Amino acid sequence: MSTTTQTHTQSEVRKFATTNDERPVPRGDTKSKLTFYAPPADGSKPWNYVETPPAGSPQRNYGEDEHEVTIHDVRGREADFNINTNGFGVLQNIRSEMSYEQWEDESRVKETYYAEVEKLLLDNVPGAKQIFIFDHTIRRSAQGAKRAPVNRAHIDQTTASAEARVHHHMQSSAPELLRGRVRLINVWRPLNGTVYTNPLAYADSRSVPDNDIVGVEHRYPDRTGETAGVKYTEQGQWHYWSGMGNEERILLQCYDSQDGARTPHSAFQDPRTAGEGWKGRESVEVRALVFG
Ligand code: OGA
Ligand code: FE
Repeated sequence: MSTTTQTHTQSEVRKFATTNDERPVPRGDTKSKLTFYAPPADGSKPWNYVETPPAGSPQRNYGEDEHEVTIHDVRGREADFNINTNGFGVLQNIRSEMSYEQWEDESRVKETYYAEVEKLLLDNVPGAKQIFIFDHTIRRSAQGAKRAPVNRAHIDQTTASAEARVHHHMQSSAPELLRGRVRLINVWRPLNGTVYTNPLAYADSRSVPDNDIVGVEHRYPDRTGETAGVKYTEQGQWHYWSGMGNEERILLQCYDSQDGARTPHSAFQDPRTAGEGWKGRESVEVRALVFG
């Protein structure tokens, strides 16, 4: 018997990674540990370094508080949720011109995908008149990836940092825009087909009181922003969307100057896909200021 070594070109390997969806998708409610915020033991103001901290400093000065929570599947109940009431919403059957290979191409993402997201937000966020997309993050659960899923309950912005963003990006039109309604919405999708591992969980905004949301200094090399840590609350109602696919989008509202819904969120390890052989999750989130 002769043996042949099978080789794949880079693009064949990638193609395989995007279509390895033959496993059955675990559906329905699941349970997982989530990591919540615990205040610094010494009572000081919480902070964390986005990149490598200065020599001798820890990455963050606050603690962790793990709790197992039930995470409810929104699959089949998509229409029951919207950003204004719940802080999150889900959209189906969304076409994109982006191919798997193009996500590494920054200018392609900005030209093609940002335009798609802008249209999506104008079409799906009631009252939205103007969109400014300020960044995106690609995450991969594979070891060594530049950015990994975030296994920590948080909200990307606080009132202070959302308003600072408006000034930073909108410059002289900021004061006028801040007199109207400002929302900050992340649009999240997988890149490599069905999400099996490290899905995203999001809490119903109404189930997490303001008292449990704590501003954390977010120290970049060149400036300091603010995100929010989320304390554990028994009332917290957490959700995920089983087997989310490339043509589906989650809208995560992080700030709304008018009605105030904001959704705590975190990646989680689903015990049903914790074993060997499950494809890693790859995703992109686009962050947008939504005016009007
Ligand atoms: C986000 C976010 C984490 C993840 O989209 O804002 O926190 O693991 N994502 O995808
Ligand atoms: Fe986030």
